[in-house]
Amino acid sequence: MLNVEEKNLFEDSVQFPDFDAKFRLDQLIGLDDYKSRLTKMLSVLIYPGSMESWVNKFHGDHFDALSNILNRPPLIVLAGDVGSGKTALAENISDSVARLNNIDVILLPLSLSSRGQGRVGEMTQLVSNAFRETKELAKKYKSESGKSNGAVVLLIDEADALAQSRESSQMHHEDRAGVNAFIRGIDSLASEGLPAAVIMCTNRLDALDPAVKRRAAEILLFKRPDLSQRKSVLEQSLAPFDLGHETVNKIAEMTGASATRNYGFSFSDITQRLVPAIVLDAYPNKAVTKERALHIASLIQPTPPFLGAVDE
Ligand SMILES: Nc1ncnc2c1ncn2[C@@H]1O[C@H](COP(=O)(O)OP(=O)(O)O)[C@@H](O)[C@H]1O
Ligand SMILES: [Mg+2]
Repeated sequence: MLNVEEKNLFEDSVQFPDFDAKFRLDQLIGLDDYKSRLTKMLSVLIYPGSMESWVNKFHGDHFDALSNILNRPPLIVLAGDVGSGKTALAENISDSVARLNNIDVILLPLSLSSRGQGRVGEMTQLVSNAFRETKELAKKYKSESGKSNGAVVLLIDEADALAQSRESSQMHHEDRAGVNAFIRGIDSLASEGLPAAVIMCTNRLDALDPAVKRRAAEILLFKRPDLSQRKSVLEQSLAPFDLGHETVNKIAEMTGASATRNYGFSFSDITQRLVPAIVLDAYPNKAVTKERALHIASLIQPTPPFLGAVDE
């Protein structure tokens, strides 16, 4: 039998509402529509009763008409370019779900990036264990009479390896078993009607397994920021340095697509590379200046998009 450290499966489960999560959610730019859709979808998947009150209030006794919405498998896929806010949104959106429904939500985060690539079968066991724990926890929250006392969100991040198409010829037999374990997990969450949902993040929508895609209640696509979103994220992260609108606007222009490349900076290129470079250039003996900030911006190049998938 394989020996996956079960105790360490979810090292950092998080409970919501959580003030820091709310703050981090508010920091995310250009994702308001996704925040609201994700909150609603998760609320309905986790707690169908919330829809019953809504339909009663606005449309009378027509709860049965909602079966198409309520019977969807509890899976939402966040897909798109690296550094576009998938993980940040997935890790913090439960705060909004907890507040909207006035319940506790537990997030169980499982990153597959560095895991499950070792011994044969490890991925399969990780996934099976993750679903088992999710279900055990969700059972405690389930209430026989209506509203559950809480809910569980299982986050499967960096799921590229798992999401990969079963039709892909390079796919190893064991990987296929991992995908199958995932599908079994989703299906059993759905059939047992537990207050739990799964968020899967992947950088490779093109490789997403068709059976996983079919089950997803929704697939949200993430992109690099456009000009106005770059302005917002720059204004936010450069605010302490008082560089003025003109400089910030210039940097926003410089970080877009250009004559030499058909893609601009990702959100994380801006927050995790450009802004730190500007700060460290001045630190520890000088202040950040407009001239230096513009100069640094002219030197830094954006990370090439995954698989060249861009639309800007
Ligand atoms: N929409 C956004 N608004 C503001 N900052 C963002 C946004 N998306 C990403 N970032 C920044 O980039 C960092 C990395 O994003 P992350 O969620 O890990 O990207 P992904 O999971 O899509 O690769 C975040 O911690 C945040 O600092
Ligand atoms: Mg991520």
